[in-house]
Amino acid sequence: MTGSAGQGSGGLGGGRVGSGASGAGGARDSARDSAWDSAGGARSGGGKSGGARSGGATRIALLGSGGSIGRQTVDVLARHPEAFRVVALATGSQGQILEEQARLLKPRVVSLADGRAAARLDLPAGTELVGGPDALEVLATRDDIDLVVVATGGLVALRSVLAALEAGKVVATANKETLVAGGHLVMPLVRRLAAGAAGATGDPHHPLASPLGWLRPIDSEHSAIWQCLAGEEHAAIERLLLTASGGPFIDATVADLATVTPEQALRHPTWTMGAKITIDSATLANKGLEIIEARWLYDVPIEAISVVIHPQSVVHSAVQFVDGSLKAQLGTPDMRPPIQYALTYPQRVASPASAVDLIAAGRLEFRAPDEDRFPALRIAREAGLSGARASTALISADEVAVARFLAGTLDFNGIPRLLGAAVERFGPGDPAEPGLDQLISLDTEVRRFAEAYR
Ligand SMILES: NC(=O)c1ccc[n+]([C@@H]2O[C@H](COP(=O)([O-])OP(=O)(O)OC[C@H]3O[C@@H](n4cnc5c(N)ncnc54)[C@H](OP(=O)(O)O)[C@@H]3O)[C@@H](O)[C@H]2O)c1
Repeated sequence: MTGSAGQGSGGLGGGRVGSGASGAGGARDSARDSAWDSAGGARSGGGKSGGARSGGATRIALLGSGGSIGRQTVDVLARHPEAFRVVALATGSQGQILEEQARLLKPRVVSLADGRAAARLDLPAGTELVGGPDALEVLATRDDIDLVVVATGGLVALRSVLAALEAGKVVATANKETLVAGGHLVMPLVRRLAAGAAGATGDPHHPLASPLGWLRPIDSEHSAIWQCLAGEEHAAIERLLLTASGGPFIDATVADLATVTPEQALRHPTWTMGAKITIDSATLANKGLEIIEARWLYDVPIEAISVVIHPQSVVHSAVQFVDGSLKAQLGTPDMRPPIQYALTYPQRVASPASAVDLIAAGRLEFRAPDEDRFPALRIAREAGLSGARASTALISADEVAVARFLAGTLDFNGIPRLLGAAVERFGPGDPAEPGLDQLISLDTEVRRFAEAYR
């Protein structure tokens, strides 16, 4: 990352850098087209939130609206109808939730990946159904979208994220797999968009002149780091500290872990999340994925990213600077503030989340992770160091491993064993980083391997 590591000081929250632009020069072209004004990028009458367009409301596409992050995003969006216009919603199979969301938010288009369930949808007047394998991409690149929220799991949305950025959309992502596998494809686009915005505004501190203005993290740890970096120079970063609750088995022995049941693993001590990420938190694979995500978002080497076990989950993450200062962001375990920050950046607006009560919190504990008991963390870090093939093998194998653990065909300690085997088998290979189509076929190949793994 070049220039300011975090948000700039500049004016309004950034104009709609525009839809319809394509290719590397997209940001620059669309910035010119969409008439940036001297107030710092917003179009005349511009909105207050990053990515807002003329007239005020930021036009949103939400991918994965039926999931844990998706439903919390809907909650945030519904609380601020003046700031957001929800244009597109997409989910996988939960038709009833999609219908309820459509009645609440009146989007122009929706998509349901499950075709049979889609045929039965009862949508409000004015809401159109988009189907087909390219539905997410179609929604994410529409001319009337400013900002795409990615709340799907796995690699489902990778193609759409790339297309949205190509089209000059801001992307706010909870999904980490997109960056873990495709960081080398996503980040060059994001940097070009930021450079384009810097050129168009002539303001290197404009919110959209930072790559993080274009690719906004929702994951609480990465949001915390983003917030800690506000106004800081990239060169001042010494180390990133990702906190982890340690999961429900923080003090379990390897022998205890061998008999863990899905019910026990799904009982996260501090956060309520989707099943996949909850199991990943129990194995610490999630923290390993977050290391790779952070490496791409903040342009910091993996060696300069540490994991700190913090059972209370009050400190969401921290940044150590070259002068020895440590800046941390604290919050209650509620994803709505990081979701909202990604939508309103660089502004903060009221939220239903409560603030941390430091007196009530009392003692905050910190300790080093134990990679002997939780080897998934080490395997993930090494996969990140190895490159995109190994990182893709990691996430593809992990999706299958978690599903198999939940289905009872793999034990808890089998999850890291399977991850290690997949990374070893598929990590080496062509030293050139894989393109999008190669990543997608690698994903299929690894899944097949993971299904058959004994
Ligand atoms: N949950 C959290 O608190 C949290 C925190 C930080 C980061 N994250 C990350 O955010 C991502 C989502 O996590 P989650 O916990 O919200 O997962 P989740 O509850 O499993 O939700 C995933 C969503 O993706 C939808 N989906 C699947 N295939 C789709 C397709 N082809 N088209 C459109 N939508 C599709 C699912 O639809 P249906 O349900 O309708 O089938 C579901 O709504 C993950 O990458 C996770 O690591 C989550």
